[in-house]
Amino acid sequence: MEYSRRNFISFLGKASLGTVIIPQFLISCGNTTNPSAEFKNTPKDVLQKLKGLALQAIEASDKDDLLLANGLQYDIIIKRGDKINTTDTFGDNNDFTCFIPFDEKNPKDGLLWVNHEYMNQLYVSGYNYRDADQIRTKEQVDKEMYSVGGTIVRIKEENGKWNVVENDPHNRRITAQTPIAFNWDRPIAGKTTAIGTLSNCSGGITPWNTFLTCEENYDNCFGEIKYDKDGIPARIPSNYYGWEKFYNHSPEHYGWVVEINPKDGSAQKHVALGRFAHECCTLYELEDKRVVAYTGDDKNSEHLYKFISSKPSSLKEGTLYVADTEKGKWLALDWENEPLLKANFKNQTEVLIRARDAAKILGATELNRPEDIEIDPITGNVFVSLTNNKPKGDFHGSILKIEETNGKYDSLTFKASTFIAGGEENGFSCPDNLAFDMSGNLWITSDMSGSSMNRGDKPYMSFKNNSLFVIPRYGKDEGKVIRVVTAPTDAELTGPWFSPDGKTLFLSVQHPGEQTKDVQNPTSTWPFDADNIPKSSVVAITGDLIEKMNKLQQIEGQES
Ligand code: FEO
Ligand code: CA
Ligand code: CA
Ligand code: CA
Repeated sequence: MEYSRRNFISFLGKASLGTVIIPQFLISCGNTTNPSAEFKNTPKDVLQKLKGLALQAIEASDKDDLLLANGLQYDIIIKRGDKINTTDTFGDNNDFTCFIPFDEKNPKDGLLWVNHEYMNQLYVSGYNYRDADQIRTKEQVDKEMYSVGGTIVRIKEENGKWNVVENDPHNRRITAQTPIAFNWDRPIAGKTTAIGTLSNCSGGITPWNTFLTCEENYDNCFGEIKYDKDGIPARIPSNYYGWEKFYNHSPEHYGWVVEINPKDGSAQKHVALGRFAHECCTLYELEDKRVVAYTGDDKNSEHLYKFISSKPSSLKEGTLYVADTEKGKWLALDWENEPLLKANFKNQTEVLIRARDAAKILGATELNRPEDIEIDPITGNVFVSLTNNKPKGDFHGSILKIEETNGKYDSLTFKASTFIAGGEENGFSCPDNLAFDMSGNLWITSDMSGSSMNRGDKPYMSFKNNSLFVIPRYGKDEGKVIRVVTAPTDAELTGPWFSPDGKTLFLSVQHPGEQTKDVQNPTSTWPFDADNIPKSSVVAITGDLIEKMNKLQQIEGQES
């Protein structure tokens, strides 16, 4: 699509806030809009001062550093290996972050959930797959399994700085060795409980204030089960970690949306949401308390799904649908009522375990790696990052806009269109995580792979390191794609999440130095601590620019 700012902003839309009801659970936990009383009553002189602060893009960078636009600063909250209590440490390759305050009236004290998607074996277990002579031990695999999953830590902001409350009783790890029950009435691959969660990429939050963590590239760990046309299964070994050589866990125990209770760490795997490479899970609560869950399968030419519950606050009772974006239809993955599914699968449980196969049988549309999904707080439209699809010649990806019919999230029809495409003319490539701030500005992180960035891979050279961008919705910069943070070498910026008062942007700096071949000679040493090795870390970004963006709607004095 040809891009122009005018085009863009009309695509984003400026419908009044009154036209869409954004559920309170999204508002009270940041990550979306609805100015609080404090925002609405911001004194004029403060608004005037913020107006004077220029929103200045930073240039693309290939430096090994976390660089921020003028008006932003960061502190590190926690790094790989940091102690969270007397027995546990923070895992590796932190991704999704989600903050829930203990008390809605105090946005500065609460629980932070962090996904640990995968790990750098060189630093976690010392295993080097390039060294053919190395014999891998179970102890090494145990260290790797401990370093993934997620972390709950209590964090508090004092004097403008967020710190982990060490040894707080809420602090805990969920790992690839934590038993987690399936929220389902039939066993999955013979078991009612899985061992562990892994490949936890992005996630979400529920209306009842629990965390959702999504199992994405699960086949890297225990491989996959593939079925032939007669439904005969065959085990495919994992291409990375090979944990199946040490633990006999079924691949079908992974690839689910997992819910974590922040208060006690209890967890469950939601079978009803299907099994595939879930990137995220974004919930909307309907007026009658039923929920709608959007979730994408981040793999080339896979699909976009949504679950609609039939009972209030349930992620079990309901129907899973898959998108036909060409016809604008949600297709039910419902074995009981769909003869095509009855002819190919034994029961609904098998349909959900093999959701990809079922989606293809129904004719769902192949998409270019659906990643993060956010609901636009101003218009209510659903935005889906499509990162890329190199085999199909899509190197830079795009963002898909879904308009549900009549703005009803439980509608079975919708309109799909391209909202904005990545590429040199728009200044970004490979959109991944999305977040809306309190003024409805859209924040986007990029995910160019470590093997493509700065290595002569032509489509990506000009973009240099992965970055965080913002698209303002108001004022003279409206519709521009503005680069505001650049990542250290080989890293990706993930998990953007605003604190409930909008003053802090939590952000993961994931996999700096990922292309390191020799631990003595790492490609990155960020965050430049005494160990002098790369460490994935969660940072808190604050500053006048964050405040300005959150208040942009008021500062520019425009009608919303
Ligand atoms: Fe783990 Fe789809 O990014
Ligand atoms: Ca991602
Ligand atoms: Ca998001
Ligand atoms: Ca990604």
